[in-house]
Amino acid sequence: MNLRLKDQLYSVFRSHFGTEPVMFFSPGRINLIGEHTDYNQGYVMPAAIDRGIILCIGYSFVSDSTLISAEFDQRISFDINRPEINPSNWTAYVMGVIKELKHRAGHLPQLNLVLGSDLPMGSGLSSSAALENAVSFGMNKFLDLGLERAELARIGQATENDHLGLESGIMDQFAGLFGREDHLLLLDCGSLNHEYIRWDNDDLGFLLIDTKVSRRLAHSAYNDRKQSCSRVAATCGMDSLRGLDLERLLGFKDKLSEEDFRLAKYVIEENERVLMAAHSIRKGNFRQVGLLMKETHSGLRNDYRVSCEELDFLVENTEENDSVLGARMMGGGFGGCTINLVKTNSIEDFGHRMSTLYNARFGKNCKLHSVNLSSGVCQIL
Ligand code: GLA
Repeated sequence: MNLRLKDQLYSVFRSHFGTEPVMFFSPGRINLIGEHTDYNQGYVMPAAIDRGIILCIGYSFVSDSTLISAEFDQRISFDINRPEINPSNWTAYVMGVIKELKHRAGHLPQLNLVLGSDLPMGSGLSSSAALENAVSFGMNKFLDLGLERAELARIGQATENDHLGLESGIMDQFAGLFGREDHLLLLDCGSLNHEYIRWDNDDLGFLLIDTKVSRRLAHSAYNDRKQSCSRVAATCGMDSLRGLDLERLLGFKDKLSEEDFRLAKYVIEENERVLMAAHSIRKGNFRQVGLLMKETHSGLRNDYRVSCEELDFLVENTEENDSVLGARMMGGGFGGCTINLVKTNSIEDFGHRMSTLYNARFGKNCKLHSVNLSSGVCQIL
């Protein structure tokens, strides 16, 4: 966690409101493997990271609530019992969560909220889920509402599904709420059963390379994929793609479009890859983990079709590099980051080399983030 940001937000809160805040840290996430499987009730393997959002909370002693973003230098007054959601504004994530909390907890007292972040937005590190988790976890704790973490994850997901029109799964919120230092989370998105998988390898690190590509089209393409998957499941007589295997899918091939068939095939294979990756990590076979990541990227590029030229370029340029065990696009796609599993002592050189290549090819800079696996959302003051 960023201690400078913590001190800065504490001072902002004190200078605006003159009282002591209670403070929370809410992390972003990476996803090692298991992409576009969460909304198909499948398996994912994310982890919380050491960058995220910090939230300060205190009671308001006037008749309305105040929300301050240190990052955007914005101050908004609102009635906490009548949150207004403007889907084109970042405040929608906060207001959506408040609406969901109010729905479960009833009348809420007016609050002062100050937010700040060191998590890049729109890079596929789940800054929106981090914001939702900060508000749901922080308010739940501060107001002693008694909601369980799994319910808080559903609140974040409902904010996106019901108030923002994005039909996302539960992976991002879950990873941020349940993360554990030095561990990945093997999550079954159907049952929400989860296991922690220790990442016990100091010789390998995670480097994210942000394409800085705007993800303008990502929203509607994401919902399209989700709808196609539901259509395939219904055609095959299932509630979701989770219970489907390749044999059954092949039996329905002539009832499906070529495109829908490939989407479903990818999801079935990706679920298998997640389980194989969990097994490989436990056995210490990190080369195999890297190979699975590469297969995921091919599936996302060729079958699920959510990659883009910049992501493919970054992945392809790791292929001849012995210090990179695996690389793939991460998150919803159409931009955002690649995740690279790299020998720790080569991370700097590798990052530098990729930056140079990327700039020479696209005439713009990519951004590098080296991240550690951290604990989930927690109170920090
Ligand atoms: C986004 C969504 C997640 C998940 C990923 C793709 O990050 O928010 O729920 O579907 O895309 O795996």
